Amino acid sequence: MRHLILGAAFALLLPVAAHAEGDAAAGEKAFAPCKACHNFEKNGVGPTLKGVVGMKAGEGADGYAFSDALKKSGITWDEANLKEWLIDPKKKVPGTKMVFPGIKDEKKVNDIIAYLKTKS
Ligand code: HEC
Repeated sequence: MRHLILGAAFALLLPVAAHAEGDAAAGEKAFAPCKACHNFEKNGVGPTLKGVVGMKAGEGADGYAFSDALKKSGITWDEANLKEWLIDPKKKVPGTKMVFPGIKDEKKVNDIIAYLKTKS
């Protein structure tokens, strides 16, 4: 009986553990509000986000007019920086022109980052 319960507990825990770093499929859904301004093909209100993970802020997205605040931020979009940015863009880069309140649900943020990684 004990083994059964433990087995069931592991079966429930494992998929969660495997996705602790973010779930790209869930991230695609969580990306919905970003689509108003971003895609992965061309610049719109916001810059294209193709390959943004690992890139220097304001240096990708050919021809996009980034704010000085973002260009001078010196940020590289690793996961830690992306996380802080997506939780609160204005706190991470005061003066940014990304008008977005941020996502307070950390799981969603991790999922979105996992999704962005698939768009390299
Ligand atoms: C209302 C429009 C808008 C929404 C919604 C929006 N963004 Fe942005 N985003 C922008 C703009 C504008 C910039 C350029 C900011 C600047 O130059 O200061 C930007 C910049 C970025 C950058 C930096 C790109 C680079 O090359 O340095 C990332 C990453 C980003 N957005 C991700 C997201 C994600 C993920 C979401 C959804 C959770 C989102 N944005 C929602 C408008 C938006």
